[in-house]
Amino acid sequence: MSIIKELEKDIKDIVISAGYDVEKVFLEPSNRRDLGEYQLNDAMQLVRTYHKNPRDIANDIVSKMEEDSRFTNINIAGPGFINFSLSDEFTYNFLNKIDEDINNNIDKKESKKVIIDYGGANVAKALHVGHLRSANIGEALKRLALLLGYDALGDAHLGDYGRPLGLVLREIKERYPDLEYFNEDYSGDYSEIELPITNKDLEEIYPLASNKAKESEEYLEDAREITTKIQKHEKGYYDLWKKVVEISKDDIKKNYEDLNVSFEIWNGESDEMEYFDQLLQIYEEKDLLKDSEGARVVEVVKEGDKAPMPPLLFLRSNGSASYETTDLAAILERKINFDPDEMWYVVDGRQALHFEQTFRAARLAKLVEDDVVMEHVGFGTMNGKDGKPFKTRDGGVMSLKTLMKLVYDETYKKITNESIDEEEKKEVAKMVAVAALKYADLLPYRGTDYIFEIEKFADLEGKTGPYLLYSTIRMKSLLNKAQEFDAKKITKLKNNLEKDIALTILDLPNVLDRSIEAKSLNEIAEYLYKLTSNYNSFYAENRVVTEEDEDLRNSWIVLTRVVYKINMLLLDVLGIKVPEKM
Ligand code: ARG
Repeated sequence: MSIIKELEKDIKDIVISAGYDVEKVFLEPSNRRDLGEYQLNDAMQLVRTYHKNPRDIANDIVSKMEEDSRFTNINIAGPGFINFSLSDEFTYNFLNKIDEDINNNIDKKESKKVIIDYGGANVAKALHVGHLRSANIGEALKRLALLLGYDALGDAHLGDYGRPLGLVLREIKERYPDLEYFNEDYSGDYSEIELPITNKDLEEIYPLASNKAKESEEYLEDAREITTKIQKHEKGYYDLWKKVVEISKDDIKKNYEDLNVSFEIWNGESDEMEYFDQLLQIYEEKDLLKDSEGARVVEVVKEGDKAPMPPLLFLRSNGSASYETTDLAAILERKINFDPDEMWYVVDGRQALHFEQTFRAARLAKLVEDDVVMEHVGFGTMNGKDGKPFKTRDGGVMSLKTLMKLVYDETYKKITNESIDEEEKKEVAKMVAVAALKYADLLPYRGTDYIFEIEKFADLEGKTGPYLLYSTIRMKSLLNKAQEFDAKKITKLKNNLEKDIALTILDLPNVLDRSIEAKSLNEIAEYLYKLTSNYNSFYAENRVVTEEDEDLRNSWIVLTRVVYKINMLLLDVLGIKVPEKM
């Protein structure tokens, strides 16, 4: 158990031993430090149960607390608030314990298997800003879950199924009608055919084909037919489709890698749809499919629904499966192959209805046991200064690459360290750009929209990724310089600046708990800023390495080391890499 949790439990026991029953004691550093480092409000709350004067209750608790040497400066304020601080001895001890092993400041959770779906990039289409948020939040949640002891797996769940690919192939046919893929009589090996198409071509082909289909019914019909051929694994078309997916997937992987995002499972919707026949059978056996103007739907409305709940479209009248059906197939596939306890979908909040319908339909068919959690972890949009979802200057969807370039150009300007040569500078600017973007993306509660403000995100001052990187690198360089002293333990600290750091360190397990509970990284992002700026205030006041009092110097070095370790740990949770220098 972490130190803060142990402390909370012990104080709870103290309150109980004083004769009052409490369920839980929460400790949070007080913002009235003049009164004490923590404030207990329990006496006030106990009044209702015990019908006693709150000051009397507080007195009973305080006299018990006074027997415990970990607490100092215990006093009662106002009608019955108990204030207290932590003794120096105890403070040094817990800091040393955390320095010894950072796990002493982390509470592992009961292990469970979680599949986190946070990819969703679409094959043959450029990744856009929405995919960025899925990737950032999902990757960080996965890392947090792993840190807390869950067995967490990321699933890329690529969009490789359905009409868009039919359109792309239709356009390829237009451009290269003589390709053997379109030759029904071809009997050779498709893998020997050179496809004169790159990922760049694909990104240009899709929007073009989609526009053409809007103008020509015939073109659209062709694309529909091709889509069906792909889905039926028809020779030629299916092989070309596989090739296109391959080209695109390589690029998608590269995109995610650049963001320091990775997946354990690289399934696409088409892989999930391999389970369609099994899925259909389940729904048919349970008589859950209703006819609706030629289509087959699942009624998912429930008694008491306040908002309209349209039926889930299972099969269109032309026999093709919907987006909802691909997600139902994915649930079945995951159940069969992984049997997870929970499935989290880190997807744009605007898809809430889609997931509500899908989860309800999955429950009706009992695709998973009732206690398996399926949760849409929705997020808000990244907006432009006009408050609308961020677009390119001409109003188009902002691709991830364009966005990254914007940020990179800004962070490149910030790297002024002369000991970095041009090649390295580019690498560093890239890492700082990812940090700037990720930190800005994770800082607001995930459900809220936020505004893309590049100058602000890339600033070296304030609540930004670059500020955290810069400060963390500076801690590292201090530690390098201090190596010769071989500092081992904290035995002495000077004033409140260090105490602030210590209390913030102690608070970490509660921050992690609340973060996984809310499935949002905002508190961790805030915490990193708080710890770092606490440390920087201390750093500005003191000369650590040249301090003459040896005990103090070594204590400061160890304190720096603990802060550095926590920063590295949490930056890693956020998926942010720290360069050697910047
Ligand atoms: N490919 C979809 C899109 O770009 C996102 C997929 C989200 N994940 C899911 N399991 N439905 O909108």
